[in-house]
Amino acid sequence: MRGRLGAILAATTALAGAGCDGYASALDPAGPQAARVSSLFWVFFFISLLVWSFVLGVLMSAIARARRSPPRSPLDRNPLLERRLGRTILVASTATVGILVVLLVASVGAGRELSSADDPDPLRIKVIGHQWWWEVQYPGSDPSKLVTTANEIHVPAGKTVKFELGARDVIHSFWIPNLHGKRDLIPGHDATLILRADRPGIYRGQCAEFCGYQHAHMNLSLVVDPPAEFAAWLDHQRAPAREPTTPLEERGRAVFLAGPCALCHTVQGTAAAATAGPDLTHVAARGTLASGTLPNGADPLRSWIADPQSIKPGSYMPRTALSPGDLDALVAYLGGLK
Ligand code: CUA
Repeated sequence: MRGRLGAILAATTALAGAGCDGYASALDPAGPQAARVSSLFWVFFFISLLVWSFVLGVLMSAIARARRSPPRSPLDRNPLLERRLGRTILVASTATVGILVVLLVASVGAGRELSSADDPDPLRIKVIGHQWWWEVQYPGSDPSKLVTTANEIHVPAGKTVKFELGARDVIHSFWIPNLHGKRDLIPGHDATLILRADRPGIYRGQCAEFCGYQHAHMNLSLVVDPPAEFAAWLDHQRAPAREPTTPLEERGRAVFLAGPCALCHTVQGTAAAATAGPDLTHVAARGTLASGTLPNGADPLRSWIADPQSIKPGSYMPRTALSPGDLDALVAYLGGLK
């Protein structure tokens, strides 16, 4: 019996563990802050499991004993038994308070550790939540070096990053499960989140506070690059947009600048400098479109421009009436903005 129970326990643990690996799992930490959150979770989990098993065991034995013993009237008084019950309740209450204090201390300790930075000069990244996308800024040493991008955050592996979080419209919540817990983005109220990612890779983030119709389509990717690759990426992001090289791309840029696109988006190096929608200077270099809703590529881009409302109903990107030729040109131009 004990052998079989052990086998079941081992199988369940292995199954649960297998389900926890991955690019959006708080139980597969990729940095010290996430590891702290994850270890706190396991402390809570095992203590709760212990308490639950104990309570269930006591309940089962009480049921079994009640079946064996003869029925008693509630009016029968047995002072000895009542004294024993009183003592048991006292011990159980003390144990409950003790366990709660242990959990409280573990939780407060983890919270303190998480809010202290070990790096006096962290990399600053500003993240602003919009309905329903993420604006990401890398403030350089001088304002001309400011990099603005969207929905994809690159960070160097092994470097502490300080996220400065804000929201433009409603409350959002910044959450990259593999790297840290959630932090709410509240309009008019600045918040920070400090984390370090040690394992290069792509981790998925998600808005974790209901913020309207397209809340579920407010994803982001956190790309952890080796430091040299990150430096090259940031350098490239500082460059203005790539110039069109074919007549089709040339026409696409003209469509972009003359049409409604330029009223909402920025492309560095052109006259388009609006900030209502994501900065598109290097849009083709990102992995996804529409805040993680579509993979990046010519066909998804065409569908997105032609009819955003069928992909993200309620999104603030309007349908744009373009001739098929203009649409192809626009897709060619934007698809070249690596
Ligand atoms: Cu933003 Cu939910």
